[in-house]
Amino acid sequence: MKRRHWLGMAGAGLVSLILARRGCSREPDPDTLQSLAARRGLTWGAATSTAQLQDADFRALLLQQVGLLVPEWQMKWDQLQPRPDGFEFAAADALLRFARQHRLGLRGHTLVWHQQLPGWLETMAPANCAAVLERYIRTVVEHYRGQLQSWDVVNEPIAEDGSGLRRTIWLDSLGPNYIDRALRWARAADPSTPLVINEYGLEGDDPTTARKREQMLTLLRSLRQQGAPVQALGLQAHLYATDTGPTFRTLPTFLRQISDLGLDLYVTELDVNDQALPAAIPERDARVAAVYGDFLAAVLPQPRLKLICGWGLSDRYTWLNQAFPRADGLPQRPLSFSQDLQPKPALMKIMSSLML
Ligand code: XIL
Repeated sequence: MKRRHWLGMAGAGLVSLILARRGCSREPDPDTLQSLAARRGLTWGAATSTAQLQDADFRALLLQQVGLLVPEWQMKWDQLQPRPDGFEFAAADALLRFARQHRLGLRGHTLVWHQQLPGWLETMAPANCAAVLERYIRTVVEHYRGQLQSWDVVNEPIAEDGSGLRRTIWLDSLGPNYIDRALRWARAADPSTPLVINEYGLEGDDPTTARKREQMLTLLRSLRQQGAPVQALGLQAHLYATDTGPTFRTLPTFLRQISDLGLDLYVTELDVNDQALPAAIPERDARVAAVYGDFLAAVLPQPRLKLICGWGLSDRYTWLNQAFPRADGLPQRPLSFSQDLQPKPALMKIMSSLML
């Protein structure tokens, strides 16, 4: 190689090296879910667990793609207080350490729910419920005081059929005011972390969703009138794909009603259940992607939308195969990346929606 040509090559390489060291490499960083969300002032997150973080390839994908984590199950009551006299924070603390180490946020999920309760609590005398609930909330929220992006304080408080509040040990023992009390106990333990009411089944255009929305609006209006410390509504957004739906025509109006109450909007557990779709992967993936696109078209224009969390990032780790197994026994394909951590049509659709 002629000396002049070699110097030219070396020079170009040196320039690239210097630019790269200065973080201004020639090639722009590839778009990610978080980078595209951030351009809209949003944060993109995913549910995970310490076990999933042991999977090095998945961990790398998670760190590349998201800006926020949420414990899929390791901050639930059966994990944090398995015995009446003992709190176990090690696993949830490990998730928090990982998030902080990588400058990611971490959501708190969830304080008051009717599922994943420790066995000892199921046999508790109703008269003790208030004291047990207050102690739990204050202990856990104080432990994570100032360190979490937000708390799902009450999860799924509306009855499945939209007939009222869901019948739980909390409603039965403390009455409808348990929600207000839980929010105030959490606020007393942490003066600033945003407090969230989190619910599923608020997204579609069907009559049951309409009833659940009315109940949620009634609840939130009442909480706001009482001065309860609640900052956001969490839409779980566990969506169920069919060959023509779901549709989200009525969702924007509902979201505006929530915003008019002075509340932010969080999408907290986004995934698309393909249980009802045919087995063929190209058609299934295309339908799942279309549902993501239709849903995001309804929520992204909402000015008080703050974050979107997938209930996972890769089909390698989705709760749906346990909770909603397909009749044909095939693994579900609900998320942005495949079991092999490859991009899917869902990812392309989500990214193109974020770019609009
Ligand atoms: C699910 C988890 O994904 C499962 O691993 C666990 O076995 C059960 O709970 N709504 C919620 C989440 O708020 O906490 C649930 O997560 C899914 C439905």
